[in-house]
Formats: sequence, structure tokens, C-alpha cells
Amino acid sequence: MIRSRTDWREACTAAGGGTSEELEKRFAEWVGRKYAIATAGGGPSLHIACLAAGVGLGHEVITTPYSWGQTVSCILQAGGIPVFADIHPETLTIDPANIEALISARTKAIVVCNIYGIPAELDAICAIAKKHGLRVIEDCAQAQGSLYKGRQVGSFGDFGCFSIGSGKNLAAGDGGVLVCEDRRLYELALLAGMHPGRNGREVESPDLKEWVDSLIFTYRINAFTAALALEQMNRVDETNGWRRKNIARLREGLRGVPGIRPLDLPERDPAWHICMWTFVGEDLPGVTRGQYVKALQAEGVPIGTGYVGTPINLRRTFQKKEWWLGNGYPWAATERGKAMVYAEGDCPVAERRCRELDMNLGGGGWWQDLSEMVDQIVEAFRKVTAEPGRLGTIEA
Ligand SMILES: Cc1ncc(COP(=O)(O)O)c(C=O)c1O
Repeated sequence: MIRSRTDWREACTAAGGGTSEELEKRFAEWVGRKYAIATAGGGPSLHIACLAAGVGLGHEVITTPYSWGQTVSCILQAGGIPVFADIHPETLTIDPANIEALISARTKAIVVCNIYGIPAELDAICAIAKKHGLRVIEDCAQAQGSLYKGRQVGSFGDFGCFSIGSGKNLAAGDGGVLVCEDRRLYELALLAGMHPGRNGREVESPDLKEWVDSLIFTYRINAFTAALALEQMNRVDETNGWRRKNIARLREGLRGVPGIRPLDLPERDPAWHICMWTFVGEDLPGVTRGQYVKALQAEGVPIGTGYVGTPINLRRTFQKKEWWLGNGYPWAATERGKAMVYAEGDCPVAERRCRELDMNLGGGGWWQDLSEMVDQIVEAFRKVTAEPGRLGTIEA
């Protein structure tokens, strides 16, 4: 923290140290990892993780089609070619059963996203990666404080990449944190995104020292965000507790209500950045998800038809294989990349979730005592579903 005017140097984090180092130590300890690098965002953390994992032009990286774009754009930024593995219908994260068939001699890493705060099947994914010599990068931008088998996400893969941007469970304006356990990977990540003033001090490996330079991505955090994040760390467990409590009450209240069911998430304790539900069309024949959601919205329920929208593999960038002003890279760099096709039907589970099943309700700012609101929402569901005939006539 900035304590007095003489502490002005702490507001300069170019060479690390001070407030940013304090945040790194505290964050690493919280997640359960040895090293942390405070960065300018979740996206920058993911980018330097890809670079440190050795992803380069023409390398392939297995990832999810069901996420925020930056889970995937970090691969493109490193010159890698994303290869999409379909998701599990309940965890909404990469289904490990779909990974091995996609591994080739060019595969370098798996970028998995703990989407909405739901932990992926991290044990199985890390075991596959170990067997094939691949790095695992966990996108934890939406999962600060989520637990898989009692352990914090971000502590399973080679890298855990967090956003602390506005709206996140731990929000400090714009910023991020990368955590890792391996010293060499830490040094490689430093070299990709941190100031030579810091790297000169911290990069110890003799073969890496010569790469200390200012030819970097400028991805360091700023001291003001670091100070804010340190303050937020004092309350993140408590605010995550509110989210958990309110979502648990909502799950309980909506039990048996036709048209909606919660996800089945054994061995996981998500901190719920966003809470996703499943539309159960069979409960309400002749009623679409759109009609159901519109009727609930009319009652003031803050519900939507999902978050991802179009699976990433079906978006323009992948259909045309033109990224960033359309120069054709990284696909154009290799024959294999040129031959690659991203087709509809490649990831049927993700496609169906987006098209028919996803409904988002809860998460976000749900860290206050919303007891009253939970009761009102449940009441609105009961009112709307009491007349299923009317639902089917709504123009959605
Ligand atoms: C899943 C996911 N990954 C990455 C990011 C990027 O984080 P940032 O905005 O801090 O760069 C976000 C941000 O919302 C995200 O939701």
C-alpha cells in the first residue's frame, strides 16, 4: 500500500517489487502455487503462458469452443493453431474423453477454461497431458476461488491464468495474475511479458539470462490496480461465500420447477462468476427456451439465453481462417494449417448447449445478501410455469 508521499516509488512497478510483489506473494499463497506474476489482464496472462509453454508458429493447441474468445485468442497470438475439443454436457468444460484423438506430433499444449467458475475435469486432463508431454494452461479468468476436489483451480495445470478485471469475483479494474509451480516456466513467462529491470534480477537460468531485454510484451500490472487487488483479497472468500450461498438457495428453490434444472457437478465447488442452467424442453411441450426466458424476463427475472452465443470454432475467424485484419495467419504458415477445416458438427455438445439449452441466472454481482430476491425469483418461476399453454403463444 502507498503509505506516504515518500513511498512514491511503490507506485512504479516497471521493475517489479513493492505493491505488485506483495500481491504476487499473497495470490500465489492463496491459490497454492510457488510463483505468481501480476499482469495487465487475464488475456496477457494467457498469452505469456502460451509463449512460456513453447507454443509457436504452426504448433497445435487443444482448447474449448465454449468460452470467452480470449481462451483461444492467446493461442493465435502465440502463432499456434487452435484445435477444438468438445465439452462435457454438465461441466461445460473440455471433456477429457475428446482430447486424445486430437493430439498430433505438433500438439504443444491444452488450454482449458474453468468457465463460469466451474472447474474442468482437471485430474484427467493433466494425466493425458503428462502422458503426451503437453503443457496445461488453466484459464481461471472466471474462477477465482473455485475448488476442484477441495483444491483451488489454477493449481492443477502448468499455468493458472486469472483475470482481476472489472466484474470478476476478485475485481480490481483491469489486471491479471499468472501462477505456476515450475521455476523455469516462471522465468520463461517473465521473459515474455515483464520489464528487463525485473527479469535481470529474477531470471537465474544461465541459458535464459541472455534473453533479458526490453523486446517484450508490456504486460506488467500497475501499482494502483495491485493495491486495489490486495484490498479485494481481504474479502474475496467472503464475497465468494455469498455467491455460493445464494446460488445454493436458488438451486434449492427451483427444484421441481418445470423447464429448468441445475448442472450436475460432482467433486466441484464453483465460486460462480456466472451461474448457468439447463432448459428442460421435455417438461413443457411446445414451449421454446426463448419463450420461457421472455416470460420470466417480463416478470423481472434476470435470466438470459446463455453467454457463449456462437461456439468459437464456428465464428467468422475460424470459418474464414482469417484472424486480425485477415492476413490468414497462423493457418497460412503450414500446409497442415492451410488444410484445416472448422466444421459445424465438430463439437455437437457445445453447439446444442448454445442453441437450445443454456440459461444464465445468478452469479455476477450476487455477493450481497439477496435472500429476498431469491424468493421473488422462485415465485416468478412458479407463476410463469403455472400456465404452460400461455407460454407456447409468446412471440420470442
Ligand atoms: C474466460 C475468460 N478468459 C480470459 C479473459 C480475459 O481477461 P481480461 O479481460 O482480464 O484480459 C476473460 C475476461 O472476461 C474471460 O472471461
